[in-house]
Amino acid sequence: MIEIAPSILSADFARLAEALATIEEGGADVVHVDVMDGHFVPNLTIGPPVVAAIRSATGLALDCHLMMDEPDLWVERFVHAGAARVTVQEEACVHLHRTVHAIKSAGAHAGVAINPATPVGALEEILPDLDVVLVMSVNPGFGGQSFIPSSLDKVRRLVHLAEARRAEPLIQVDGGVDPETIGPLVAAGARSFVAGNAVFGRPDSVEAIRALRQAAEAAA
Ligand code: DX5
Ligand code: ZN
Repeated sequence: MIEIAPSILSADFARLAEALATIEEGGADVVHVDVMDGHFVPNLTIGPPVVAAIRSATGLALDCHLMMDEPDLWVERFVHAGAARVTVQEEACVHLHRTVHAIKSAGAHAGVAINPATPVGALEEILPDLDVVLVMSVNPGFGGQSFIPSSLDKVRRLVHLAEARRAEPLIQVDGGVDPETIGPLVAAGARSFVAGNAVFGRPDSVEAIRALRQAAEAAA
């Protein structure tokens, strides 16, 4: 299974309905929605009202990536706005087990993202409870950054740790994913791929989504 998750962060926010139509036409599986609070990351994007608007404009599931401090204060509102998946940052959660189960109780799938300097071991105890693990292959906050090559080995080590814990989370990668990096990431064991610039930074975004899937499936 290969999941392609275009990030709207790199889309034209003045024309989000068109961006969503493009994502659907390209055959993407979910819409990746980057929520930033201006504290956890040095950028500020959107909140529940825009997520609700996006919800009403697409049939695809919304994969909400909460790059924010104290996400517990917002989980329910994002699920109510239409998030099917809520991913919090491990670094922002003091009581991660409680947060993961609050996401599930609210009715969404639970994901945890780890930044480039955060070891996969930080998730060892919570892995069996997770629907998704998001390996950040850039430092969060912006689209269009360069892929951090050590992310490949990190994905491999995460796969091994999940096997050791008899956990089967969807392993997702986010940051600098493009047709060149997606193949090695599939070979390393990742199965979900967020892409912003590789989709909306290209002249033909529909074709760009298809190219990502082709490159991923060639490596599967
Ligand atoms: C970065 C976001 C990513 C970003 C990916 O903080 O979490 O989802 O939008 O963008 P690209 O694919 O351009 O690196
Ligand atoms: Zn993201």
